[in-house]
Amino acid sequence: MLPSLFGILGAAAATAWAYGCPVANTSILANNGTPVGKEEVHNGYNIYITKPQGNATAAVLYLTDVFGIQLAQNKLLADSFARAGFLTVAPDMFNGTPAPGDINVPGFNTTTFLDRHGPAQTDPIVAAGLAYIRSLGIARIGATGYCYGGRYAFRAGGNLTSAGGKANTPGTQAVFAAHPSMLTDAEISAIQGPASVAAAETDAMMPAARRTQITSLLQASGKEYSFAVYGGTHHGFGVRVNETDPRQRFAKEEAFLQAVRWFSVWL
Ligand SMILES: *[C@@H]1O[C@H](CO)[C@@H](O)[C@H](O)[C@H]1NC(C)=O
Ligand SMILES: *[C@@H]1O[C@H](CO)[C@@H](O)[C@H](O)[C@H]1NC(C)=O
Ligand SMILES: *[C@@H]1O[C@H](CO)[C@@H](O)[C@H](O)[C@H]1NC(C)=O
Ligand SMILES: *[C@@H]1O[C@H](CO)[C@@H](O)[C@H](O)[C@H]1NC(C)=O
Ligand SMILES: *[C@@H]1O[C@H](CO)[C@@H](O)[C@H](O)[C@H]1NC(C)=O
Repeated sequence: MLPSLFGILGAAAATAWAYGCPVANTSILANNGTPVGKEEVHNGYNIYITKPQGNATAAVLYLTDVFGIQLAQNKLLADSFARAGFLTVAPDMFNGTPAPGDINVPGFNTTTFLDRHGPAQTDPIVAAGLAYIRSLGIARIGATGYCYGGRYAFRAGGNLTSAGGKANTPGTQAVFAAHPSMLTDAEISAIQGPASVAAAETDAMMPAARRTQITSLLQASGKEYSFAVYGGTHHGFGVRVNETDPRQRFAKEEAFLQAVRWFSVWL
């Protein structure tokens, strides 16, 4: 009994080590503090770049929520992917004009904002970030997206051309999306590789019925997929949480590890 149990644990530990993945060690995830990456202009667009120690062999294309790379928590989460070993590139999805931190401020019209930042505007920005990663000679690329960006992670992992993006730009090899909003059936069906989703329990943009549909579409895609729902969470938990609430804190950590494991294994 004991030797066989030891064998099982030993095998699990060896597997984790082989992927170089910090399985349950969340110390690399930063929720506050000072971002360590830098902003640079490449292919005509501003991007936030954050690098791991040593030479990266895989990259993460980090696609933000409506608060953009201007929100510190987006930069800090991108930095966390870099600490997990990925060269991480976060395009400025709104070209300098993200939504205000409080979208209920007078004068901000969400409908107008989203109309101004549809696929016609955003696909080229995402494609430019992807092209920058490729220009560094890194071919293994995963897209991670949050809320607004979750949809674009799927678009990046699908056929950018059919999605209205830059012609002949192949997508990323794997996709992770936390509480994606406005994700269409066609975008899910177009994925070309493994896709993983982290969902909030309470999310008007992805209620339980929609979660069921998305899971069915992922299954029908024939690609590797996973779909996790985190109890006690609301839309946005993958990026913005109340750290003193243990359920929210756990969910953000777990969704981060879900993405890191996904890319470590499937890229
Ligand atoms: C977790 O990782 C950090 C480095 O990021 C390391 O200093 C720490 O000792 C690790 N903790 C455990 C329990 O392995
Ligand atoms: C990174 O790659 C460069 C160029 O290929 C090489 O000179 C350098 O030694 C590498 N560094 C590490 C830490 O592997
Ligand atoms: C927001 O803009 C849309 C048109 O883009 C308009 O129909 C709507 O009334 C506006 N909402 C508010 C609260 O001003
Ligand atoms: C996406 O591209 C692949 C080949 O690159 C093709 O087989 C597939 O039909 C395309 N899917 C869509 C939805 O355009
Ligand atoms: C954060 O969570 C703690 C613990 O659940 C709670 O007491 C506190 O009111 C919350 N803060 C905010 C701003 O919601």
